[in-house]
Amino acid sequence: MSRTVIRGGLVVTAAEETSADVLIEDGKVAALAAPGNEWAKGWTADRTIDATDKYVIPGGVDGHTHMEMPFGGTFAADTFETGTRAAAWGGTTTIVDFAVQTVGHALREGLDAWHLKARGNCAIDYGFHMILSDVNESSLKEMDLLVGEGVSSFKLFMAYPGVFYSDDGQILRAMQRASANGGLIMMHAENGIAIDVLVEQALAEGRTDPRYHGEVRKALLESEATHRAIQLARVAGAPLYVVHVSAEEAVAELTHARDLGLPVFGETCPQYLFLSTDNLAEPDFEGAKYVCSTPLRPAEHQAALWRGLRTNDLQVVSTDHCPFCFAGQKELGRGDFSKIPNGMPGVEHRMDLLHQAVVDGHISRRRWIEIACATPARMFGLYPRKGTIAPGADADIVVYDPLARQTLSAETHHMNVDYSAYEGKQITGRVETVLSRGVPVIDGREYTGRAGHGRFLSRDTCQYLS
Ligand code: URP
Ligand code: ZN
Ligand code: ZN
Ligand code: ZN
Repeated sequence: MSRTVIRGGLVVTAAEETSADVLIEDGKVAALAAPGNEWAKGWTADRTIDATDKYVIPGGVDGHTHMEMPFGGTFAADTFETGTRAAAWGGTTTIVDFAVQTVGHALREGLDAWHLKARGNCAIDYGFHMILSDVNESSLKEMDLLVGEGVSSFKLFMAYPGVFYSDDGQILRAMQRASANGGLIMMHAENGIAIDVLVEQALAEGRTDPRYHGEVRKALLESEATHRAIQLARVAGAPLYVVHVSAEEAVAELTHARDLGLPVFGETCPQYLFLSTDNLAEPDFEGAKYVCSTPLRPAEHQAALWRGLRTNDLQVVSTDHCPFCFAGQKELGRGDFSKIPNGMPGVEHRMDLLHQAVVDGHISRRRWIEIACATPARMFGLYPRKGTIAPGADADIVVYDPLARQTLSAETHHMNVDYSAYEGKQITGRVETVLSRGVPVIDGREYTGRAGHGRFLSRDTCQYLS
């Protein structure tokens, strides 16, 4: 039996903050005890980690990543190997990535392909959601099977006509199926049909720079789609999780739905909390680095996102990590913003950026752990195995130095991408040691992980519904 003890830290979970020693046996949390506790004093271990003046927090759960995702004729630059390593560097010990169904093909084919990409390559544990690009009789039936295999959530797109797009009838049918089989529908809520008209008009008028990506993908077209998705979910009697919420008006739709008591949930991402259309407007095509969808918004939207996170109208912060290099990938859209692959790097920085939000007074320390660890674990059927530190939980634990200072930069990050969206940003707080099921993956700022350590997580259904 292998035993590790973490002594002297402040254990922070979504529920409480307490000075405690943590005993880990065979990859699981075995016990917590107050420092100086007679029983804990006697704990013997192969390894003792001194966490004096440090936080001891659950490993981050990033419920929205796209490793190796095909998009716009290219692939997201992080593989499961490089992306999960970078995640670990940033204190994330679980990702839920998106397997993709392509039009005309079965869900099974997409899921098998993603299992092949991930298996044997991940440094941390991983699960899958399934992107539905072709809702038909046979893919609806397959949804039931996937829920049974622990792939219990399905992303639909109201954007990207001709690629991932589903029409309202398809969305309704998928929601009805999810309502029957316990699956959770995740929605990319933007009116893609209207956006494509505005894209065409912008390009015809010579408005081709990256900043027009933000102008055509209007906040109103996000809130309209959010509203429509909520109404369709009500009709179907299904729960709904809206991904990458960026617009104040969309938060208002979620707030309204939740005030009615509906099982509607919302996620936002660090890029919407810390970046804005000012970044999209950076000269010399640099704005392309910030092209993602939903797009970055004017900075005035950020207050509504922070408020939503405090009031629980938004429940989760994920990264939507989908990195494309500036050289050779983002550049595909020079002269035509619609050809810039959509997505931004971020899997490494979520825990730190949200700790900075604690330092800045936007959220409390426990809320940090709630939105980044506990709630995503519950949302995606992984709690309490993931997302907390409690007897019986996987020992996915981060020793976090709340006073260390760091500067984010492409020079020092570990993501496989040639720029940082946060270049030069100063952060207070830094990951020191990361355990995945008790095994050190980051050990005192050294990478000690291994591709293939990470296991596939067969997930339960959403734990907010039962
Ligand atoms: O721009 C983004 N978000 N790229 C990834 C795909 C998606 O819509 O989540
Ligand atoms: Zn096929
Ligand atoms: Zn999306
Ligand atoms: Zn995404």
